[in-house]
Amino acid sequence: MPRMAHFPRRDYSGPPRRQPVAPAPAAPTAWEGQAGWYDQYQGQGGADLYQSVLLPAVLKRLATKKGQRVLDVGSGQGVLGRALAHLGVDAVGVEASPSLVAAAQGRAGAHERYVLGDARALSELLPGQAFDHACALMVLQDLDPVAPVMAGVARLLMPGGKFVFALTHPCFRQPKRSSWGWDEDRRQQYRRIDGYLSPYQTRIATHPGAAPGTPEAALQTISTHRPLSVYLEACGAAGLGVVGCEELCNPRRGTKGHRFAAEDLAAKEIPLFLVLTAVRLR
Ligand SMILES: C[S@@+](CC[C@H](N)C(=O)[O-])C[C@H]1O[C@@H](n2cnc3c(N)ncnc32)[C@H](O)[C@@H]1O
Repeated sequence: MPRMAHFPRRDYSGPPRRQPVAPAPAAPTAWEGQAGWYDQYQGQGGADLYQSVLLPAVLKRLATKKGQRVLDVGSGQGVLGRALAHLGVDAVGVEASPSLVAAAQGRAGAHERYVLGDARALSELLPGQAFDHACALMVLQDLDPVAPVMAGVARLLMPGGKFVFALTHPCFRQPKRSSWGWDEDRRQQYRRIDGYLSPYQTRIATHPGAAPGTPEAALQTISTHRPLSVYLEACGAAGLGVVGCEELCNPRRGTKGHRFAAEDLAAKEIPLFLVLTAVRLR
């Protein structure tokens, strides 16, 4: 008589239940802790500054045609992807914060797709894909280094494709090392710049006005300052030629007091945002 194989006793109550594991941020600079606030701040159509200044500038430079594919690097909760999709474009966003990817997917229409990943490894993330154009809205000053992003974008762009990226202006807006000042003798508002050429990274408060001890007061993001030359050199090294440059001012005007005219003049004269357009050369 053949010997019965011995099977260990099995528990048929089913496989052990796994707790759902939330995906980890794809990069240390991801705005994961800020995701809830940021999604509310942008809403469906974008915050005031986005609607009045940043989105129109980037969309104008991209000048997309219906049916084109556009890569949105650091897509956040999808504010730019939605604007592109509205123009009949197929938008693919890459974003390092899982919660912002989820927010973008929750708000997305048929022509948007959002991928969790690190913008410094784009070609590994989107192998074999090709895009007519690419954009990065207020992202590149948040991550480091920037050269792998330019290289990845260039590899995914079709020849002649544009890369439009908007930044806090590296010449006039260095985190913690620039500020507005008031010259009483000249009755002039000026921009004080305490450093420019040396790159540095710093943590900045998301809600500088929050009451101490509140959860909002603890929220911080990492920001990287680098001089303009680093962006331009990184474009060149990646085979991206810069063909456009637009410098944008903050539309917020001065207070209503006796300094109003001087503050207004400075706000109109000193740009706080920079939009560069580069094209893939080869
Ligand atoms: C100021 S927000 C801008 C988001 C979006 N472009 C917009 O304009 O609303 C910067 C975004 O960059 C994302 N980010 C930071 N480092 C990243 C990286 N290495 N790869 C992909 N996204 C990154 C952050 O998670 C955040 O969503």
